[in-house]
Amino acid sequence: MTKQLITSALPYVNGLPHLGHLIGCLLPSDVYARYLRQKGQDVLYVCGTDEHGTPSEVGANKEGVDVDSYCKKYHDLHVQMYRGFNLSFDYFGRTSSEQNKEMTYRIFHALEKNGLIEERTTNQVYSPDDDRYLPDSYVMGTCPHCGYDKAKGDQCENCTKVLDPVDLINPRSAISGSTNIEIRPTKHLFLQLPKLEAELEKWIETKKGIWPDIAYSVAKKWLKEGLKERGITRDLKWGFAVPREGFENKVFYVWFDAPIGYIGITKQWADEDPVNRNWEDWWLNASDVRHTEFMGKDNIPYHTISFPATLRGTNEKWTEVSFLKGMNYLNFAGGKFSKSAHRGVFLDQALEEFPADYWRYWLIANAPESDDTSFSFEQFAITINKDLNDVLGNFINRVLKMTVANFGEVVPERGNVTEAETELYATLEETLKAYYMHMDGLEFRKAMSDLREILVAGNNYLAKTEPWKAAKTDLARAGTILYTALNLIRLYAKLLVPVMPTTAKRMNDLLNLSDDSIWTPKAMSEELQVLNSGNKINQSEPLFQKIMPERVEELRQKYKETE
Ligand code: MF3
Ligand code: ZN
Repeated sequence: MTKQLITSALPYVNGLPHLGHLIGCLLPSDVYARYLRQKGQDVLYVCGTDEHGTPSEVGANKEGVDVDSYCKKYHDLHVQMYRGFNLSFDYFGRTSSEQNKEMTYRIFHALEKNGLIEERTTNQVYSPDDDRYLPDSYVMGTCPHCGYDKAKGDQCENCTKVLDPVDLINPRSAISGSTNIEIRPTKHLFLQLPKLEAELEKWIETKKGIWPDIAYSVAKKWLKEGLKERGITRDLKWGFAVPREGFENKVFYVWFDAPIGYIGITKQWADEDPVNRNWEDWWLNASDVRHTEFMGKDNIPYHTISFPATLRGTNEKWTEVSFLKGMNYLNFAGGKFSKSAHRGVFLDQALEEFPADYWRYWLIANAPESDDTSFSFEQFAITINKDLNDVLGNFINRVLKMTVANFGEVVPERGNVTEAETELYATLEETLKAYYMHMDGLEFRKAMSDLREILVAGNNYLAKTEPWKAAKTDLARAGTILYTALNLIRLYAKLLVPVMPTTAKRMNDLLNLSDDSIWTPKAMSEELQVLNSGNKINQSEPLFQKIMPERVEELRQKYKETE
């Protein structure tokens, strides 16, 4: 059987994640991991904090603490928030771990041996006022490609182009703001991407029409511009020391060791139970592994070009990405999320306002798959009120109430199936087919729209069969209808496991079912006749609450949605 390796891009440890990060990679990867686990697949789902690089140094500086304790503090905060959202990582590690250092050195030495690492003397941005070099995001300025005036030295977040700090127009120090900038020569190591270009091009071509358009087209764009050798060292203190003479004050570039972090983190996971776990089973000569990567679009170049080149250059058989799920951006009501301007909803705030499942559902149903999308509280409220309250919650309440009123707190007898039921089976089977096709293809928006249709089918069934009327004239028939409807609640609970795990569990509790994890639907005539008549059921408080217009207004003010 194919083993399923799932990775979410490793969030930078500095600063805290917002809804955009959640939908960019963390949540869709979790939904997919849960989906495959439910199907009984062998899943390893890893993620962790990306800890090296200039932002960690800058952040620690600002807080007046050493970088080590800064990273530990923020790593723990990430863990706490992801727990709050029920992200089901098998392991959430750190790129600064010993294990990742070991992997980084191993891969670096292999690249050296294969003649893919060259020394070059390069011009770097130096700030006399700060008394240091300013690599990557330590220097800011105007993007030479699009004119964005807050471009960082390593990448322009407006046009996503990867930059060299010396190319910035009007450069300034991100530490002191000083524009007194010198260019000084210093020695660095370069990965010889041009030597691997032809091979990469051939490989990317095999992904055409298979990966989402955005993933393929970003990779192609890079290849078309021609690959250049890429610097993999920096003039920094924080990071993995470069194991070569003459490089004593330098470390590896964060983007060199970060993706290797997927492997290092897998080793962290394995080291916790060495008898039963082996990192090589997933990463080295592991021909039975399918690796699915999730990331925001700005991460695509690194995962389609530099990281695959790094692995290929070793001449060992590392696991490569099989499917790359690249996401567009989620904006905040037309603008950008911004930590510094306190705009947008950060994950800790989100959990204070609404249960995790509300967010999980809205975000997946509105995932920015084919285009950037925006979040607004008004749209959020509309979806929650309609899909979760009116469609799902209302169905559950009505079915439980009618059942208890007519039969007590037990599953009624199942009588003969009529045309109304066989019609329901047929509708569900058709929509389920679409749902599974879309989930297998990682098309989450489409899958959620199928799911919505499946939920609506329950309400349509009740409208058609009118159990409240049958209860007065033909109690046995009313029993069959409610029996079918209770089975629908069970089916819904199964289908909601990937996207709304807490809700799924609460629905199972209503029926006194455990949520046995492995499941794929059989024929609906079976799935909707599973519950045992006479089994105890539980009435409950409504599962969802509506979000009223006053609350929407309050939230818009509080999160500055209107600005
Ligand atoms: N930290 C990066 C970001 O948030 C993503 C790194 S993905 C990795 O954009 F695989 F390289 F770690
Ligand atoms: Zn730009």
